[in-house]
Amino acid sequence: MGGMLVTGGAGFIGTNFVRLALAEGHDRVTVLDALTYAANRTSLDGLDPHRFRLVEGSVCDASVVDELVADHDVVVHFAAESHNDNSLRDPSPFVQTNLVGTYTLLEAVRKHGTRYHHISTDEVYGDLELDDPARFTESTPYNPSSPYSASKAGSDLLVRAWVRSFGVQATISNCSNNYGPYQHIEKFIPRQITNVLSGIRPKLYGAGANVRDWIHVTDHNRAVLRILEAGRVGETYLIGADGEKDNKSVIELVLTLMGQPADAYDHVNDRAGHDLRYAIDSSKLRTELGWAPTYRDFESGLAATIYWYRANEDWWRPIKAATEAKYAAAGQ
Ligand code: NAD
Ligand code: TYD
Repeated sequence: MGGMLVTGGAGFIGTNFVRLALAEGHDRVTVLDALTYAANRTSLDGLDPHRFRLVEGSVCDASVVDELVADHDVVVHFAAESHNDNSLRDPSPFVQTNLVGTYTLLEAVRKHGTRYHHISTDEVYGDLELDDPARFTESTPYNPSSPYSASKAGSDLLVRAWVRSFGVQATISNCSNNYGPYQHIEKFIPRQITNVLSGIRPKLYGAGANVRDWIHVTDHNRAVLRILEAGRVGETYLIGADGEKDNKSVIELVLTLMGQPADAYDHVNDRAGHDLRYAIDSSKLRTELGWAPTYRDFESGLAATIYWYRANEDWWRPIKAATEAKYAAAGQ
């Protein structure tokens, strides 16, 4: 008994979370991960086997989940199908993992009385107009656009219902777009970095006016640790670092930082139903829990991320051709 169960810990944010939690002194961390296409087992290499264990299995498997939940004090649920473009090609694993997986965990934490933290996204709120001064807050109505964001919205609502109906000890966080090391190269920023490193021109969807509110993955994870420490059960906290940028500016910055002409990219087919803008007001997290981001300069955080992909080609090279082939089939 004791310790933390981290689902999806072999993915981008989960890997960074496990590494941070162990570095901050958590002494027993177990990852439950189905090791889908999105996972990379080597991301967890080198961790202390006395304090860390990886279990390969699905959050939809009630018996594995029940056994692991019974043996831990806290569950942090990162596991999900996480990519909008994939959800447009085939929504089925999104419904399965994001909804049924969350339901399965909720039933186990309900049975064992375990503290549960649910990781979610700002995309549950839909999108904002480009010229709207408004940002999302904890009371913004849910209005998801894609199969991905709808499945995440549904999973959040399950958590709220299990808190209210069954008294489950849960908190929820909704974070904006993350960047940093170990992010799958299907996602916007690492796709462009690894394109440049492969001699492929970066690909911008449509005109690139869409705005995302970028946060470094370590700032997201520090907020999650803080919520586990001091967050109020039943509450939702929005996590964001005032990092709004349009996609065109981000792609130009990647190119410039990598020593290429800023316009050396291609415009490709836009995403169906492409959300225009996300923006987070994280006042509640900042005032109630005293959290503040440490990566305040996007350009230097991005430069460090570029450095990581340059230095870790072995990590991404084996999946580059297949990732690009999927996009090419969609004209992207
Ligand atoms: P990711 O795709 O990099 O990793 C997801 C992990 O979950 C993978 O290791 C995968 O193998 C695992 N997984 C998938 N299905 C599973 C199943 N059925 N059982 C067990 N494991 C399974 O995703 P990410 O970017 O690290 O996102 C993690 C969480 O954070 C997700 O819940 C996502 O919705 C949320 N989130 C992501 C962002 C972002 O910018 N990436 C922003 C806000 C919130
Ligand atoms: P993405 O990383 O898929 O995150 P999300 O859909 O959760 O915001 O995409 C970020 C933004 O970048 C989004 O507006 C779509 C756009 N985009 C491109 O312009 N080119 C690309 O190659 C990809 C993958 C995304």
